[in-house]
Amino acid sequence: MEHTFDLVVIGGGPGGYVCAIRASQLGLKTAIVETRATLGGTCVNVGCIPSKALLDSSERYHKAVHDFKDHGIQTGSVKIDVKTMMARKDRVVKELTDGLNYLMNKNRITVFRGKGTLAKKDANGTTVSIALADGTKTEALAKNCVIATGSEIIRIPGFEPDSQTVITSDDAIALQEVPKHLIVIGGGVIGLELGSVWNRLGAKVTVVELLPDILMMMDRQMREMARRTLQKQGMEFLLEHKVVKAEKKKGSVTVTIQTTAGETKTIEGDKLLVAVGRKPYTDGLGAENVGVKITERGRIAVDPHTLATTVPGIYAIGDVIEGPMLAHKAEEEGVLVAETLAGKKGHVNYNALPSVVYTWPEFAWVGRGEEELQKAGIEYNTGKFLFRPNGRAKAMNEPDGQVKFIADKKTDTILGIFIVGPNASELIAEASIAMEFGASAEDIARSFHAHPTLAEVMKEAALDVDKRSIHS
Ligand code: NAI
Repeated sequence: MEHTFDLVVIGGGPGGYVCAIRASQLGLKTAIVETRATLGGTCVNVGCIPSKALLDSSERYHKAVHDFKDHGIQTGSVKIDVKTMMARKDRVVKELTDGLNYLMNKNRITVFRGKGTLAKKDANGTTVSIALADGTKTEALAKNCVIATGSEIIRIPGFEPDSQTVITSDDAIALQEVPKHLIVIGGGVIGLELGSVWNRLGAKVTVVELLPDILMMMDRQMREMARRTLQKQGMEFLLEHKVVKAEKKKGSVTVTIQTTAGETKTIEGDKLLVAVGRKPYTDGLGAENVGVKITERGRIAVDPHTLATTVPGIYAIGDVIEGPMLAHKAEEEGVLVAETLAGKKGHVNYNALPSVVYTWPEFAWVGRGEEELQKAGIEYNTGKFLFRPNGRAKAMNEPDGQVKFIADKKTDTILGIFIVGPNASELIAEASIAMEFGASAEDIARSFHAHPTLAEVMKEAALDVDKRSIHS
């Protein structure tokens, strides 16, 4: 065969391209097959990166309108030019996707632009057939293969997106003007982040959530705090509400919703964002051609330690397998597989996997919350500290939020850390490292935290596990 490789990765998102780079670093002859014109997957092209670019722009606008005067900065009337904001976002994405092309060249990774299908498995390896973007076809023979095809948006019948009135996250990061009333179905990460962007730019935002609260995977007390901070900024939440139907008129949409008690009401908006989760993407993958098993939940079945599928020499990583759909999870799984293939020992510690919601203040956590620990019958102590008394938070005019430590009652080992507050996305790295190293709350309490920094709130919360925080 014309093309033979030690490793062929199907999917060029954060899981796939990181796996390919690590494999190439370790001497494996590697190729990536990617359908999109650019590498980076959902995350870089239409997910994490563009949404963060818009969150940053909208946050600056919001601060200019609401906070600058407290600092003595006079601006006159502040206006937002949505087209320029979108053009900057597009530039950010382009610079990163160009950077990925550079990394592929640097690491001598062959990139096939097209759709890869698992065609055949025999003693020589796996044959991946590739329908190239230019309309031609080719094949690659892979000693080992990694499926990193990611996920796609879940659609609800009756709420089919039309890119105009009923929109997906892909559309919500490309609107050319600020909606008057954005209705969001789903109080998950996308609903809150993109709801925040447009709320800060002046849209009324109503989030309709089926469950009793937003972010149900977060510790209850901390998610209630998170919701209240967003409510204070003007976002409206209709919890335990089911969406029944959406009726579109020219330029508007009327959504009928129902409470658990069966009461119905209608809300009218000009945009309806459907953000009810994502599902693994395996269309046209050809799993059945080679015998790769897919679970009832639609995920590729893997050995949780090696990420090997049911077929020798074929692995799967990222959103397409079990676990949270997070780019940094996929990346670490990609590294694990590459290192295993090169004869090294890879590892992923899912207990130390951080989650972040990039609103402002940000929400971030790692480990288990109180409800989960109670259900598991594990005894624990908690330590809390607010941002309000912290010198740096005061200097930044960012008083909202808290850090909460949860530590094992007997051993003091950290079981979970939850943050609602400024720069929570950066502060959570300390929590992940602490959990990776099996640290106790006492370990954090005894460690230097530079003064004045927001990180001191972490130290004070750790001290509070033993009820000896200094500044409360
Ligand atoms: P999600 O799973 O985070 O949240 C979906 C929400 O919709 C849930 O709260 C669910 O209860 C609710 N829901 C489901 N059906 C509903 C219905 N019919 N009516 C009302 N509410 C309903 O999914 P989301 O926000 O769409 O994000 C998709 C994926 O992308 C997630 O896995 C997320 O982790 C990932 N993501 C991660 C980001 C980050 O790490 N910062 C940013 C954006 C997305």
